[in-house]
Amino acid sequence: MSAAATRRIGRRLGRAAQPATCLALVGPLGAGKTQLAKGVAHGLGVPGVVNSPTFIIVNEHAGRLPLFHVDAYRLTDADEARQAGVFDERQAEGVTVIEWAERLDGWLPPDHLRIEITADATLPNLRMLRWRATGPRHAHLSQVLALSETP
Ligand SMILES: Nc1ncnc2c1ncn2[C@@H]1O[C@H](COP(=O)(O)OP(=O)(O)O)[C@@H](O)[C@H]1O
Ligand SMILES: [Mg+2]
Repeated sequence: MSAAATRRIGRRLGRAAQPATCLALVGPLGAGKTQLAKGVAHGLGVPGVVNSPTFIIVNEHAGRLPLFHVDAYRLTDADEARQAGVFDERQAEGVTVIEWAERLDGWLPPDHLRIEITADATLPNLRMLRWRATGPRHAHLSQVLALSETP
């Protein structure tokens, strides 16, 4: 599995995503969260390049559905997240991808898809994805991941 494979999986998620999708990405620096987010953007038809919104906490992109790309790395509590605009009512119409979602544990929308990415120190291009839908809205995206071939 390569960065391109991770982007491909993101693209499938982006194509299948419905309004009020929330993808909670968990994994250390360099895991591939942004690669997955880039794929989601592509799948949503977002033109141009999507990078980590490191200095701005939320980046919004126009696509088939609006994409809200969140980097929660610097957030320490829910108040800070609220002030930074992490939770926006417009997300009900769009797709939210949250990098460092573990920082927001307990404050995420109750129905989301949690995707954990882990790397293997001995195999630099290999990643393991584990995912879990926390509610019925995301069950179909869980299926999309399950049916993705892993080249
Ligand atoms: N299978 C893979 N999936 C995702 N990224 C990979 C993979 N193999 C190698 N990489 C590399 O790992 C890095 C992941 O970076 P990035 O997506 O920015 O991580 P994060 O956002 O989690 O900090 C990129 O340089 C990418 O090319
Ligand atoms: Mg990133």
